[in-house]
Amino acid sequence: MAKILDGLKVSKEIKKEIGVEVEKIVAGKHRPPHLVAILVGKNGASMTYVKNKIKDCEEVGFKSTMIDFPSTVSEAELLETIDELNKSKDVDGFIVQLPLPKQIDQEKIIMAIDPRKDVDGFHPENFGKMALEMATFLPATPFGIITLLERYHIDTKGKHCVVIGRSRIVGKPMSILMGRKDFPGNSTVTLTHSYTPHIEDFTKKADIIITALGDPNFLKADMIKEGAIIIDVGITRVEDDSEKGYRLIGDVDFESCKEKAGWITPVPGGVGPMTRAMLMKNTLLAYKTSVYND
Ligand code: GUN
Repeated sequence: MAKILDGLKVSKEIKKEIGVEVEKIVAGKHRPPHLVAILVGKNGASMTYVKNKIKDCEEVGFKSTMIDFPSTVSEAELLETIDELNKSKDVDGFIVQLPLPKQIDQEKIIMAIDPRKDVDGFHPENFGKMALEMATFLPATPFGIITLLERYHIDTKGKHCVVIGRSRIVGKPMSILMGRKDFPGNSTVTLTHSYTPHIEDFTKKADIIITALGDPNFLKADMIKEGAIIIDVGITRVEDDSEKGYRLIGDVDFESCKEKAGWITPVPGGVGPMTRAMLMKNTLLAYKTSVYND
């Protein structure tokens, strides 16, 4: 029977630690950190994510601002706002919630963000620094997973880690971080994706599996080895007759895998809350390293 990697519990601890730091900052007569979130359009999941990010800011004592654009916003308008936020002495970090509508070039938007305020860690300068093991903002989800492994003292050195999915937000950075010369890290990493034949040939041999696929209940017990560490990044919305109208289903068939795994993250309550906490951590880091703070 697997033990639970309780992301909800750890995320609360981290937010509490951040809250204590903010109290000290404010007690010293300094302004609190300020995060801005840009939301374009009315994508249901994106709206929920941004709302939660604002809620987290309130919880830890940050100032927060949400900037709402219609889905018809032009690239030029968005770039203008980014330029203003880059220059603002009152803003420590900001994020542009993805995905963006088709008329907007996502790469151009990410490239326009000042790397010092890029608390998502998506700018190529920050991604490059991460890959070279230099101090920088780590993307929130991989940062959350690394922190969860760290707080549970999970031994990753010399282990075989299989990452499923190669997205810029999760899979790709995750594969780099697990292979880095640090703890957690020092794993032998296999990055699998949609062109990997017979994924189970890899997952069956893995000591650690990190799945970021968006395919509900994809990973079954017969695809993992006894005692494996299973990290589920999937959060697919599946309609049901609850008040919300949906529930979140992970990539991992939790019920069967929990009998065989050594450690496992639940959905919800695993990686999701850790991602949220790490955005707060990155914002605090941006504040502390800002050239505008006295
Ligand atoms: N869309 C899904 N995850 C993320 C994230 O971590 N940051 C941003 N900006 N957009 C996202």
